[in-house]
Formats: sequence, C-alpha cells, structure tokens
Amino acid sequence: MTHTTEPSSGADRQGRGAHARVGGNDKGGHSKEPRGKGGKGLHRRKFLGGMAGAAGLAAVGAAGVTFSMLTGGNNSKASAADATGTLTIPDLLEGTTSGTTTTYTLTAQTGTSEVISGVSSTTAGYNGSYLGPTMKWTKGNTALLNITNSLGDDTTVHFHGAHIPPKMDGGPQNAFADGVTWSPTFEILDEAKTLWYHPHALGTTAEQVVHGLAGMIIVEDDSDVSAALPSEYGVDDIPIILQCLAVDTAGDIKYEATGYRSSGVTFPVLVNGTNVDSTTLGFTATKKRTRFRVLNASPADIMTVQRGDGGTLTQIATDQGYLTEATEVTAIRLVAGARAEFVLDLEDAVTLQAVVTTGWIRGGSGTYDFLTVTPEATDTPADLPSTLNTITRYDTSAFTARTITLGQGTGATMTIDGSAGLTMAAMAMISTTLDAEEVWTIKNSTQLEHSFHLHDVPYQLIEINGETPTGVDLGWFDTYEVVGGGSIKIAMKFTDFADDTYMYMLHCHLLQHEDEGMMASLMVTDS
Ligand code: C2O
Ligand code: CU
Repeated sequence: MTHTTEPSSGADRQGRGAHARVGGNDKGGHSKEPRGKGGKGLHRRKFLGGMAGAAGLAAVGAAGVTFSMLTGGNNSKASAADATGTLTIPDLLEGTTSGTTTTYTLTAQTGTSEVISGVSSTTAGYNGSYLGPTMKWTKGNTALLNITNSLGDDTTVHFHGAHIPPKMDGGPQNAFADGVTWSPTFEILDEAKTLWYHPHALGTTAEQVVHGLAGMIIVEDDSDVSAALPSEYGVDDIPIILQCLAVDTAGDIKYEATGYRSSGVTFPVLVNGTNVDSTTLGFTATKKRTRFRVLNASPADIMTVQRGDGGTLTQIATDQGYLTEATEVTAIRLVAGARAEFVLDLEDAVTLQAVVTTGWIRGGSGTYDFLTVTPEATDTPADLPSTLNTITRYDTSAFTARTITLGQGTGATMTIDGSAGLTMAAMAMISTTLDAEEVWTIKNSTQLEHSFHLHDVPYQLIEINGETPTGVDLGWFDTYEVVGGGSIKIAMKFTDFADDTYMYMLHCHLLQHEDEGMMASLMVTDS
C-alpha cells in the first residue's frame, strides 16, 4: 500500500475536541441550538403513507447486494457506530507525490455499517466499510489512481464533474472485474470546485452507491479567491455528504422499485455516514468563518439545506465552481448528484437542517436538524472577495441546438430519446466534435422528477422551464433538476478531449432511473 490515511488530521482533532467540550454527552453539542421553529421533534421526518401496500412485491431481490459478501469481521469502524454526537469527517486520502504527479490508492471493498441505529447493514466503501476518503486534487498537477476492486462484482469509479479524457472518466466502458486494479491518470484541468467519485457500471450503479461507494473530491487551485477562502480540511473546510437511503428492519439497503416497496422499509438520512434520524450532530467551529461543501449522494431524493433559524447561507459555489459573487440564500436545493458550497460567519450557534423532498416511489418528506455548528473562535475574518469568479454568459445564437427527451419506456425502463440505455449498444448516442458549442433543451416527457447530469464539461443554464435563470442558477453546473413535464435549456462547449472509442455519458442521476436506462452516450470526436 502506498497511501496512508491521516490519523492525526484536523478532522480527528476537531472530533475529539468537540467531544471533550460537550463532556461526552451528545446532547451538549446542540444545547445552544436556536429552536426557531419550536423544537426538534417537529423537524423530524413525517412519513408519507402508501409504502406498505406493495409489500407483496418484496420477495424478489429483497436479499439485496450481489457483491460476494464476506462477513465483515475485520472491517474498519463504521462511522455510524461512532456515536459521539460529533460530525464525522471522512479521512483525507494522502497521496504520494513525485514531481507533479500524485498517486492515490483506493480499494473498493465490502463491510458492515449501521445505517439505522443498532442494526448492522452489509455495506461497501473505499478503503473502509462505508463511503470513501476525501481526495484533494490540485489544478495543474497529474493524478494517478490505483483502484482495486474487492467487491466480488464488476465496478467502475467515475469522477463526477471532472473534465478528463473519456477513457479515464470511469463510465461503463471502464468497468473492471473483482481482483483487478484500474489505474487511470490525467492532468487536473478543473479549477477549484467540489467533485465526487462513485461507481458507474451498467445496471449496478444504484446498488453500489447506496451501499456506501461514494467519496468527495476537493479540487484546489492557486487563485487569489481560493487563498481567501477557508481551506483547512476538517477545521474550517467541512465536507457534508448527505444521503437519504431506504433500509428495511433487517438492515438491507434497497436500491430498486421492488426493494423500496418492501415491508418495513424506512428512509434514514445520513450525514457523512452517520444516521441523523434522531440525533443532531455537533461541530465546533474554531474559526469564525467555516466553509461547507455539500454533496447530495442520495440515490433519488432532493435534499435542501437551510438554517433552523431562518437565516441565510452565503453560497459561494455550485457544482462546477465559484459563483461570480457570494450570494445570500435561504436554502440550497440539491438534486441527486449535485453539490454546492457555502460559508457561515458565526457569532452564535446555528443548526443546519436538511429537508428531504422525495422522488417517485421513495419514502416521505421531512426536515432534519442534522448539525449544530457552535463557534468557539476569536478571529476576525477578512471580508469575502467581492468577486469570486468571472463567468461569461454564453451567447448561444450560433450554437448547435439539440433536444434531448427524458422518457419512460415499456416495462420498468426509462429512456433518453426513446432508447432505454440498458447496454452501450442500446443507448442513444449523441455525436459531436471537439470544440463544438451546443445548446440542448432537456425535455422531461414524464411526470417524474429527474436530475440531469452531463459528463465532461460544465454547462450554463439558459432557461429553466422557459424562464431565464437568476441568482445562483447563473453558476456552472453538471447536474440539475428537471421537474415532471418541465425542461431546462443548457449550453456547453466540448473542449480538450476527443476519442473515437470511449464515450462520456449523460443521464438521470436518480440512480434507479439511470440503471433502468435513462442514460445516453456522448461521443466527442476530432472534427
Ligand atoms: Cu455521478 Cu454519470 O455520474
Ligand atoms: Cu430520473
């Protein structure tokens, strides 16, 4: 093994420090919580009805995973079992750097974890039993990853949101078998932003991701803006990986329609792998300004982050990097797969809430007080830079226009442009050329919610349901909501990478829809 994780990371110091300050009592972490809306009990999930009726469908596939599950006797500690009441920070994956190349080692492996309290679930993770370590990439450097598959099933690792060659992208064409090590390498062209990595093999993405195969990637750059923002991982730069799962009483994690409808299924919300159904985690901010990077790694649900006291969050970034300027927002709504960054300059404790908006047949909506941030800081942060980024809005008048239709096929299939992409051969293929400039209308012909994700390059939103975007919707995206019957118009340029064998993907990031065929390929060739 060439990597080490960092046991003395800031994350660990933070965890212990916060624990000590609350005296080992997990209530202490939120004793100062402002209860603007009348107490925590009211903010817990309110289940919708309607799930129990289909229990008869549960027999098929209810056993869950197809990984060859060795029992997890020697697994590393499950984060959910770390019931200190403090926010768990995923380890930072230390690479080995030689020249400008940093080598990272990841193993996709199985394990066990408590996704509902007191019940051991069969799970999977990278270098651990659930989720994966956070990688930091530096713009201009080269990353080399040695990724070993120990899942007992094919997998891939996709670098969601990264602008890298299609051969390195980790799409379905990059699937590799159990026991194999895949070693993609690429230069980091992306500017500062928050990405993530997760499996992307055909038909098994939902299953593998919900069992825990997901991790965050922080791209750093040397811009003045990045230097002016909090960047000490686990101290004032905090990853928040939100997941709303579906789990039965035996701990089986569900990932498709039959499973979601089976009896006894509940829909726990996890933050960095810790169940927050009946706990508000604590985080002690030792700097007055804290940056949060939020990833919605849920298979389907929309997660909205807001303050319990109704105050604003200072949003600084969308999926694909900095906004033109820091923007005060009362809520950040993330569809499955999307990310955002915000900062808080805190004088008093504040509780962050996650509001779950359910997709399709999934469980129920609800509001969770998931984290109380308590400042214990004496510093005075400088004003935020007045300009964070320059985003030149595309003039799409000369762009090539396409319409891409999200639809439902026969049986349990979902389609793009009429094709259920269950195999590479069956999926619709968008063919374009290097440096093409395009404007796409993504039309949702279903009444279901979809989350439209494009690999390779960021896009700008030109229209959302016929309206001109405003505010944070003027940022850069790779994953965006398309409401039932609605549409978005997006514009992009296919820069840098062409290949006549390997393709990028475009798809719904509701993982079940993706696995049911709502995926098309994108072939960018030399002109
Ligand atoms: Cu996050 Cu094509 O996926
Ligand atoms: Cu969808």
